[in-house]
Parts: sequence; C-alpha cells; structure tokens
Amino acid sequence: MMHRVVFLGPPGAGKGTQAAQIARELSIPHLSTGDLLRAAVAARTPLGLEAEGYMRAGGLVPDALVLKILHERLEQPDARVGYLLDGFPRNLAQAEALGTFAELDGVISLDVAPDHLVRRLSERRVCPKCQSVYNLSTKPPKRGGTCDRDGTTLVQRPDDRPEAITTRLKVYDEQTAPLLEYYQERHLLRSVDASGAPDEVAARVRRALA
Ligand code: AP5
Repeated sequence: MMHRVVFLGPPGAGKGTQAAQIARELSIPHLSTGDLLRAAVAARTPLGLEAEGYMRAGGLVPDALVLKILHERLEQPDARVGYLLDGFPRNLAQAEALGTFAELDGVISLDVAPDHLVRRLSERRVCPKCQSVYNLSTKPPKRGGTCDRDGTTLVQRPDDRPEAITTRLKVYDEQTAPLLEYYQERHLLRSVDASGAPDEVAARVRRALA
C-alpha cells in the first residue's frame, strides 16, 4: 500500500472526502493546504490575513506562503510514516518544490465531469467549528442546517459562491491540470473514476493505492 500520496483533481472532485477516509484507514495524516490555510484565516495569523483575499476570489495563494505552511506541517513527527496531500501541489512550481523535500509513492487523480463539480460545490455546507463537510443532496445533515457532531449552524464556504467556483475551475484547468502530464511522465499517476457514491469511489481509490 502506498503511503506518500498526492490526491489531485478539480475543485469538488472529492479530494477532501476521499483523503479523510483513506487517511483514517491507513493511520496517516491527511494534509490539506486548503484546510491549513482556512485555519490560518480563522486564527487571523499574518499568513492567514495575506491568504484570505486570494482564497475568497477563488485564485491561488502565492507559492511562497503555501510552501511555508506545507513544509512546516510535513516536518511534524506524524508525517514521517506517510501522508495524503490534498490540494497540493497545484502548479508546476509547487510540484518542483515538493520534489526537493519529499519523495512520492503515487498520485491519485480523481476524475469527474465538470457539471457534477459545480453541483457538488454549490451544495456543500461546512461546520465552522469542527470543519465537517456536508452536501445538501448527497450528505445532508440530520437536523436542519446544523452539524451532526456539535450542533453548530452550517455555513457555505465563501469560495463556493458561483463567481468564485467559475474562477477556481478556470485556475484548475490552466495551472493544475498540467500536473497530470507531469506525474504521468514520472510514472506516478493513477486515474480513478470519481463519479458515483463516495463509498464506491473509496473502493476504487483503495485498489489504486494497493
Ligand atoms: P481547497 O480547500 O484545496 O479547495 P479545492 O481544491 O477547490 O477543493 P475542494 O475542497 O473545493 O473540493 P474537494 O475535491 O476536496 O471536494 P470535497 O471532498 O470537499 O482550496 C481552497 C483554496 O485555498 C484555493 O482556491 C486556493 O485559494 C487556496 N489553496 C489551497 N491549496 C493551495 C495551494 N497548494 N496553492 C495555492 N493556493 C492554495 O467534496 C465537495 C462536495 O461534494 C462536498 O459537499 C461533498 O460532500 C460532496 N461529495 C464528495 N464526494 C462525492 C461523491 N462521490 N458523490 C457526491 N457528492 C460528493
């Protein structure tokens, strides 16, 4: 089973959903640069304040900031046994930088048709307290608009509004999609059909990682 893995895919492909599940099963950390950046924004750190505007608009946060936050996280002891990277790298410069401080076992590409992506993103709701992720049609909360775990009122991510979704999909096509070829050339890429229910996708991901 591969233990140092990148989950690659467009916004809404299910990277966070799959990486969280598989990381639990493998007892390795799920490292999402989006989650790390959102935590920095919520804590109002200098890095978070600098990142916030880029994120809200759906653009990429400058490489130097993201590399700093990711590198620091990868140096923590729990990442020695392995990690699932979600949302990083996102452009060629980040992939090159990652190659200087980490060796990957594989890259899982989650493939979903574009119209599904928009739907999944517009229907996503998150708990601002524990960060649990819901979906109004595929994973609705049990009680109205509140978190099943802690009862907090769920919110929509600022970048899940229509204008920001459009920008994120464009940024993915222009800057992140070229990584598919980059990792294909390095014989690391494994493509997974990410349509269908999350459990079906997880079964395909497990097979790809074996
Ligand atoms: P990030 O948080 O990484 O966002 P993203 O890549 O746009 O990915 P998402 O979290 O939107 O989607 P996902 O694929 O994880 O899908 P999910 O599992 O939640 O980044 C946010 C921002 O931070 C960026 O725009 C950028 O500004 C900045 N940033 C982050 N990393 C950066 C980097 N490296 N460099 C520069 N900037 C960076 O699922 C989505 C929804 O669909 C959920 O509601 C879920 O319940 C539902 N769902 C999941 N799977 C299924 C399924 N199989 N069937 C039906 N519904 C499903």
